[in-house]
Amino acid sequence: MSSNSQADYNPFAALYNKHWGNSAERFLGILINLAGDQIAEGATVLDLCCGTGQLASLLEEKGHPVTGIDCSSEMLSFAKKNSPSSKFLLHDARDFNLSSTFDLVVSTYDSLNHMMNEADLLLVFQNVNRALKPGGHFLFDLNMENGFIQNWNGPLNVVEDDHVCAIQTCFRKEDQIAEFNATLMSKANETWTRKDFQLLQKCYDDSVITRLLKSARFTNIHVYAVDDNKKLRTFEENDKRAFFLATKSS
Ligand SMILES: C[S@@+](CC[C@H](N)C(=O)[O-])C[C@H]1O[C@@H](n2cnc3c(N)ncnc32)[C@H](O)[C@@H]1O
Repeated sequence: MSSNSQADYNPFAALYNKHWGNSAERFLGILINLAGDQIAEGATVLDLCCGTGQLASLLEEKGHPVTGIDCSSEMLSFAKKNSPSSKFLLHDARDFNLSSTFDLVVSTYDSLNHMMNEADLLLVFQNVNRALKPGGHFLFDLNMENGFIQNWNGPLNVVEDDHVCAIQTCFRKEDQIAEFNATLMSKANETWTRKDFQLLQKCYDDSVITRLLKSARFTNIHVYAVDDNKKLRTFEENDKRAFFLATKSS
């Protein structure tokens, strides 16, 4: 098991569900573009770091039974409401071993940037490989260096009648770690409550990810990016986000 502590999304869950969870449609489009041809009707999906379950719900609508794993009980309580037909399990991605195997494993919206070192990422990749059926696919995205430099460099605020959140992000080039520091004020029964929390992400070079995927016995590894016209193409060094597609040998 890893020495690093987990990212704690519990204080962030309601805010994430409302303001970030709807990115699932965009990720589903990319998933279909990248792996659609290879995903059979009714293929089973493991959504790793599933968050608030919006992607699970869209996949269920397309006829795919989904199991979601996440380490945040609060994120999972939203997921259960958003996708009632899916099965959700509270696990650390670095430490799970399920009795069933899947045709496809997905992990979206830079979830795996929360693995703060290569050893943790390798544990995740090995767990995913074990969870896949032979010939099954693993698709995930990561924030890349240019994404951190351009997008994680200042304030981001959410203001609603019953909650206000002030977020400050920064990217530390020296250790390739990005910080997300938030102060959330939420109102319930006419009382405002304050929560402060921090989430960290680690930046990885695509060559490191490819090497770790190979160490975890993945083959057929491809790295993609989405261009300004939403078309998929091969990843280039300055792209902000990368999409990795890898296969478990048959
Ligand atoms: C940015 S959210 C993405 C959620 C979802 N995949 C989506 O596309 O909206 C990252 C998720 O990863 C989960 N997470 C982070 N570290 C984890 C770990 N070690 N094990 C399991 N889940 C983890 C968080 O709890 C959170 O729900």
